[in-house]
Amino acid sequence: MLIINTSKTYSPIGIFDSGYGGLTILKELVDAMPQYDYLYLGDNARAPYGSRSFDTVYEYTLECVNHLFDKGCELVILACNTASAKALRNIQQKDLPGIDPKKRVLGVIRPTTEVIGNYSKTKHVGIFATAGTVSSGSYIIEIQKSFPDLTVYQETCPMWVPLIEANELDNEGAEYFVKKHIDQLFAQSKDIDAVILGCTHYPLLRPLIEKHLPEGVVILAQGSIVTHGLKDYLFRHPEMEAMITKNNQLDFLTTDSAEQFDRNASLFFGKEVNSKHLSL
Ligand code: DGL
Repeated sequence: MLIINTSKTYSPIGIFDSGYGGLTILKELVDAMPQYDYLYLGDNARAPYGSRSFDTVYEYTLECVNHLFDKGCELVILACNTASAKALRNIQQKDLPGIDPKKRVLGVIRPTTEVIGNYSKTKHVGIFATAGTVSSGSYIIEIQKSFPDLTVYQETCPMWVPLIEANELDNEGAEYFVKKHIDQLFAQSKDIDAVILGCTHYPLLRPLIEKHLPEGVVILAQGSIVTHGLKDYLFRHPEMEAMITKNNQLDFLTTDSAEQFDRNASLFFGKEVNSKHLSL
């Protein structure tokens, strides 16, 4: 039985991910803006989303966003590139007006694509992401809006999330798959000088990625970019900022086992967490 206060005195920022990856974003948000309440929801029972169809990711994401709204959230961040790529636009344009036009759902792709051009001299940039994010073309579409002179190369990394979820970061298998996808990206263009880790799980592979990336290539850290973007958003929307409750409260929900979530979450969040199970 969930015991989360849903009165108006509890209106946290909702953070959604298919599983654990969004915790890498939450960690940076909490470090930078500890005053707010945050409610994290990981749909671990149905993760990974990366290989699922557009309709399925949209349906699952909307269901989870509605749960966060029911718990009191006015603002929800899709801290998942796959959900941002496949569900965000529909939720913003089709669903929110009917649910509550004052509520907001934001993603992690737009803030990243709005700055990528500032990091590239060669104008060739690379994206590592899940199959769903790559096939959506969202990064290419969004980057063209902000930096039409950039050429974008994408690389699907289907093994990276399963390796991370299975806690297999320290073995040769992980290194093999990291190197393989870096080589494949750079086989598309040797001129790439900036890459986006376009999946919120991938920061856990950063040491291995840094080891195999060609020298001088910049890695964009999505956590700090999203944090900066949210700060700016709240500054520009004081009516939303005023609605978010500020008691430094952190709550975690998972659609799978809470014990298992707590065991694995600290790897992503850097601290112990105490989650509750949410039945969908
Ligand atoms: N963390 C999610 C993302 O940023 C992907 C993980 C998954 O495949 O569910 O894309």
